[in-house]
Amino acid sequence: MKSLISINDFNKEEMMQVLDLARKYEAEPNCPIFSDKVIACIFFEPSTRTKLSFETAVSRLGARVIGFSSLPATSIAKGESLKDTIKMVSNYADMIVMRHPLDGAARYASEIAGCPVINAGDGANQHPTQTLLDMYSIWKTQGTLENLSITMVGDLKYGRTVHSLLQAMSHFNPRFRFVSCPELEIPWEYEHFLDSRNIPYSQHNVLEGQIQDADILYMTRIQQERFQDPMEFEKVRNLMSLDASMLTDTKPNLKILHPLPRVNEIATDVDERPEAYYFDQARNGVFTRMGIITYLMNQ
Ligand code: CP
Repeated sequence: MKSLISINDFNKEEMMQVLDLARKYEAEPNCPIFSDKVIACIFFEPSTRTKLSFETAVSRLGARVIGFSSLPATSIAKGESLKDTIKMVSNYADMIVMRHPLDGAARYASEIAGCPVINAGDGANQHPTQTLLDMYSIWKTQGTLENLSITMVGDLKYGRTVHSLLQAMSHFNPRFRFVSCPELEIPWEYEHFLDSRNIPYSQHNVLEGQIQDADILYMTRIQQERFQDPMEFEKVRNLMSLDASMLTDTKPNLKILHPLPRVNEIATDVDERPEAYYFDQARNGVFTRMGIITYLMNQ
């Protein structure tokens, strides 16, 4: 029984196995191979893409979905603990997909559950299934994961997708540029992670000048929900944004990714540009999550 809680739970070979499965499922999306399985999707935080693409993935694999995304409709509203909730859900399901606002909640759930747990995002910590779909999107658009120049922009402190993705891409000899305001720079533990692997990176406070030699421009939303002080959020909410006029002299293979939802960090005039890939990226989530479920079910 294997769970996916951190992207570091998968080695390079396992990641590539999931991407190969995603490619197979994109070519043939209806594969009802798990018609005897029930998968619980339990979301303690809002979600559009992750929840719906997991539910679509489960359906296309022939399994059934149970779950909740509205806590007032559950016994959590009566005071039931996370521990008891996970014990109950794992009595009913063969696999649990869980999103939770607290860092570490998914790992805790995996230690309690009697079935595999997939982390669908825990606080500001990790979002490994987003990372695998990001990798699939990079692989599809670049033809390789190796030797890429990746510029990551926005909320690098609280952005869990950034944390998972830089760790995953560390297997593929990347070069990183991190662009954020000083308040939202990449946490030291991720700098340490990159330093310990001799992966080159640089840090910048303005986006201008950091796009032109990028293969991938990874934009992120400022994570308003993680700020303790609303005034701190107000100070940074409009600092990093991309519009079409900034996309000059870029590499022909440049693709713009964003885990979504976006607020104001990508102007809508970028959407029609050939570099814009974020809506296709979200579509790739279905095939990648089919691959993740298949890989974990077969362990
Ligand atoms: N990318 C992502 O996690 O989106 P949702 O919050 O809509 O699931």
